Amino acid sequence: MQGVSRNFFLLAIAYAICGMLLGLVMSISQDHTQMPVHAHVMVAGWLMSSVFAFFYHLFPAARASSLAPVHFWLTAVSGIALVVGLFFLLAGNASIEPLVALGSFGFFAGMLLFAWIAIPATRVYQVQPAPAE
Ligand code: HEM
Ligand code: HEM
Repeated sequence: MQGVSRNFFLLAIAYAICGMLLGLVMSISQDHTQMPVHAHVMVAGWLMSSVFAFFYHLFPAARASSLAPVHFWLTAVSGIALVVGLFFLLAGNASIEPLVALGSFGFFAGMLLFAWIAIPATRVYQVQPAPAE
């Protein structure tokens, strides 16, 4: 794995560790206030970043796009703003809501950018020949 695919994979692992730790804290404390944060860290963080990582790994044409690093940084920064902001919002800091809104729109824009990069790249996919036995 290299470039953007490795960055997404490392981001995915970081989300998984933080999200599962939060899940354990929620379970042990029996306080599920942060459930939406846990859910988004696990699914929008760990699972989506993993999908991006393996997509860029499998499609070199997408990885070579000059927009791929823009997609990574937009998704990483907005996703982290979204879940960290939501954490403080659910903890009672209503004033942080604009950050959550900005993070949400950024994350959605990242998904649109991914569609722009990924759909054309699927047309130039070439199956690698199987290694000789
Ligand atoms: C250490 C492992 C984990 C622990 C201790 C844990 C704990 C929890 C807890 C306590 C809840 C709240 C349940 C409720 O209030 O109804 C929850 C919800 C949730 N968890 Fe986890 N979780 C873990 C791993 C995962 C993983 C690996 C994923 C996904 C890849 C995941 C996805 C979700 C989702 C999507 C919800 C929300 C479910 C709903 O909408 O009702 N969790 N988890
Ligand atoms: C633009 C970004 C997003 C926004 C603004 C957003 C917003 C929301 C809202 C308002 C809820 C209901 C929360 C509640 O009733 O407590 C929710 C739930 C949920 N969302 Fe998202 N979402 C976003 C992206 C995603 C993505 C990308 C995924 C998965 C790949 C996802 C997975 C979930 C799941 C599993 C739940 C149910 C768990 C829960 O109730 O917290 N969301 N989301």
